[in-house]
Amino acid sequence: MAEQSAITPNPVDISKYRDDFPVLSTKMNGKPLAFLDSGASAQKPTVVIAAMDAVLNKGYSNIHRGLYSISQKLTEDFEAVRVRVSRFINAPSEKNIVFTRNTTDAINLVAQSWGKAHLTASDEIILSEMEHHANIVPWQLLQQEIGFTIRTIPFDERGVLDMQAFERALNQHTKFVGVVHTSNALGTINPVKKIVEIAKDFYPDIKVLVDGSQSVVHGVVDVADIGCDFFTFTGHKIYGPTGIGVLYGREEVLASMPPYQGGGDMIERVSFNATSFKEPPYRFEAGTPPIVEVIGLGVAIDYVSAIGMANIAAHEAGLLTYATQKLQDIDGLKIHGTAPDKAGILSFTMDGAHPSDIGMILDQCGVAVRSGHHCCMPLMERLGLDATARASLGLYSNKADIDQLIEGLKKVGDMFS
Ligand code: ALA
Repeated sequence: MAEQSAITPNPVDISKYRDDFPVLSTKMNGKPLAFLDSGASAQKPTVVIAAMDAVLNKGYSNIHRGLYSISQKLTEDFEAVRVRVSRFINAPSEKNIVFTRNTTDAINLVAQSWGKAHLTASDEIILSEMEHHANIVPWQLLQQEIGFTIRTIPFDERGVLDMQAFERALNQHTKFVGVVHTSNALGTINPVKKIVEIAKDFYPDIKVLVDGSQSVVHGVVDVADIGCDFFTFTGHKIYGPTGIGVLYGREEVLASMPPYQGGGDMIERVSFNATSFKEPPYRFEAGTPPIVEVIGLGVAIDYVSAIGMANIAAHEAGLLTYATQKLQDIDGLKIHGTAPDKAGILSFTMDGAHPSDIGMILDQCGVAVRSGHHCCMPLMERLGLDATARASLGLYSNKADIDQLIEGLKKVGDMFS
């Protein structure tokens, strides 16, 4: 992902794309909707909605099975998305791309397939303390079965990972490192390329998984440059539908992994004596896949690619600076997550007002934010908090959204000071 320093200082004007999102011209509680919860799930442009609608209305069937024309056409369209996804994150080929249900499903796949096949009780894995539960709990479930050790990388008060602690955690038992690319709760953009380099320098066979759920949304991702073994993301945060996620895996690593789930479409031959499986990625896609959702994801990726991920990153960086300055002017407000490399995610607390109160008052002002632990309880524990309020930006966010947020927060301040 492009680091802040690499972002152009003069963002191109991408405000015209806001009109592509019909929901943004609606009202919430009688106020214009200021949607600042794209980190939880992004709104969908009309092209995505229309493409999914067109499949359902005019060309739907199952895929990989039908000899008739609409099934063959949809199979081609579906597989073409695999190619587009691989190009989008600069993977070597479509063979590296496994379609999953979401990031959580992708990480569970890695844990249950790669982890179960390669980890033993004497092994260790390293996770950062800012992981989303999706990159903690699947490993804990496996740990209960196998008994390996989980070490953690702490972060400082700005939300920057302690790289020296990471280096100290590596030892001859380390087999795996899992790290979030961009923190959903703090906005920190972690130096994942450096983390991969350090791990592989220590021992080339250590596998590194990067959770890219928030990073693919906010900037350019190049998995070949990062050098990770696995990279995961989810469709609904990148302006596509729910129910579709992506697991990128290096070819030789995917080839070393047994199936995750069994069923139709992932086999070569089935008999009661012996069953053989397809090569990756198909080996990991049991059953009828989310066909319409894959088509929607493909259109979403084309959409953001046409705008340019670097342009989206630059637009959001400008807005992040604007929002940060405005938030800092509010009495009693504290921003959590002030890393120098940061994406458009602003977590904050206010003296005297619980984040749930902030969320509910903002709702009355037409402003949608998320309040809570953001599925990052260990991160919250490290901050000594149970929750924050979080405003997260999308490509359609603008200064008016931020101004509406600030007006709402002034009301919170008036009520709770
Ligand atoms: N992981 C999503 C979030 O950060 C749901 O809100």
